[in-house]
Amino acid sequence: MVESEEWFKRAQVAISGGVNSPARSFAAVGGGTPPVMTRGQGAHLFDVDGRRYIDYLAAFGPLVLGHAHPRVVAAVEHQMKLGSLLGTPTDVEILLAEELVRSVRGVEQVRLTTTGTEAVMSVIRLARAVTGRNLLVKFEGTYHGHSDPVLAKAGSGVATGGGEASLGVPLGVTQDVITLPYNNLEAVARVMRTHGPRVALVLTEPIVGNMGIVEPAPGYLEGLAELSHQYGALLAFDEVITAYRFRYGAVAEALGVIPDLYALGKVIGGGLAQGAYGGRRDLMGQVAPLGGMFQAGTLAGNPLSAAAGLATLSVLRTESPYATMANLAEYLAQAILDRARRRRLEVTINRVGSAFTLFFGSMAVVDYASAQRADAVQFARFHQLMLTRGIYLAPSRFEAWFISAQHRAEDVEQTIGAVDEVFAIMADH
Ligand SMILES: Cc1ncc(COP(=O)(O)O)c(C=O)c1O
Repeated sequence: MVESEEWFKRAQVAISGGVNSPARSFAAVGGGTPPVMTRGQGAHLFDVDGRRYIDYLAAFGPLVLGHAHPRVVAAVEHQMKLGSLLGTPTDVEILLAEELVRSVRGVEQVRLTTTGTEAVMSVIRLARAVTGRNLLVKFEGTYHGHSDPVLAKAGSGVATGGGEASLGVPLGVTQDVITLPYNNLEAVARVMRTHGPRVALVLTEPIVGNMGIVEPAPGYLEGLAELSHQYGALLAFDEVITAYRFRYGAVAEALGVIPDLYALGKVIGGGLAQGAYGGRRDLMGQVAPLGGMFQAGTLAGNPLSAAAGLATLSVLRTESPYATMANLAEYLAQAILDRARRRRLEVTINRVGSAFTLFFGSMAVVDYASAQRADAVQFARFHQLMLTRGIYLAPSRFEAWFISAQHRAEDVEQTIGAVDEVFAIMADH
């Protein structure tokens, strides 16, 4: 860690907090120095001290094919030679848009953006534009990026930081946002009875990834769709994490509820900057230049990101690694539960496909309140002990472990060995 310490000292001088996104900070796991990485290869990260880590962070989700996948590298190299930014329509962005339209049910047209934050921000603006209403209904512990309206009681870095919301968000913005508990239809019904005619949009992650992995209860998403439409509001799914992570396309289709609008991101950029939003053609027709809702971006749909996204989607479509990744994740999750039981440590795992969250505690985690009951001190200790054994986990009890198509049985066995040692230490103290 000698070199990392040096580099991170420099980071703290030049970069506020030493990190360019708070979710990367180790503040919530004891405040130690995060290893400073130089490269990623397959399922592994390598730091400036030459140490190797098995990577379960996957850069917070996008790297479903692992680091530096040869097909993605080749596509980006090829595209770079053709120009990285043309400022005109390009063939490669059209190909990516067509693939999104083909593979996400309910997306008849898209707009590419540079981040997931912009995608969600645009979904909210579009819903307000087409309904002529202001209110946004969203849910505690979900994360929709860092635009003003979605930070109250948000998950991910906001939850990890322990804050309820961000400073600097005008009251006028928060007055138009109602944040309700996830998985609680009664709460939504109650709010809609009072405010329904003024609600523009009901926005949720269909499977939440940002208070840890939390699945919708049976009938919950159907209920959300019914209540939204009953009052003339739109329903949007933020599938920035979920789309192409659990299946080829969005999870909405598998869950049987198709929203009016989607926000997409992460996997569709194959590790480069990419977001997208889309949905019904009549709604997307309201975006400028066709309609009066303005949204733009110098880097939106840039050819490099589009090429990386297309290459990633092409590998996912042709090789469909989903079952293999899910089996490996299930095996690892079961082994963690088994090792915890042997040491009499109380843990809960929520898993969907290739992603899971390990919570310290025996509660069922179904919403933000139950996720917050997970023991932060035990998680911090676990995180630190795993790191020293070469296992890189997200530095937050509210994030997921992601298995990529590059994780192998040896990686998982090494991880189980580390878990065994770490649980033994934790059980002793
Ligand atoms: C569900 C969800 N929506 C939106 C975002 C924001 O995306 P970005 O960080 O690319 O702005 C994230 C990021 O973690 C996310 O998990």
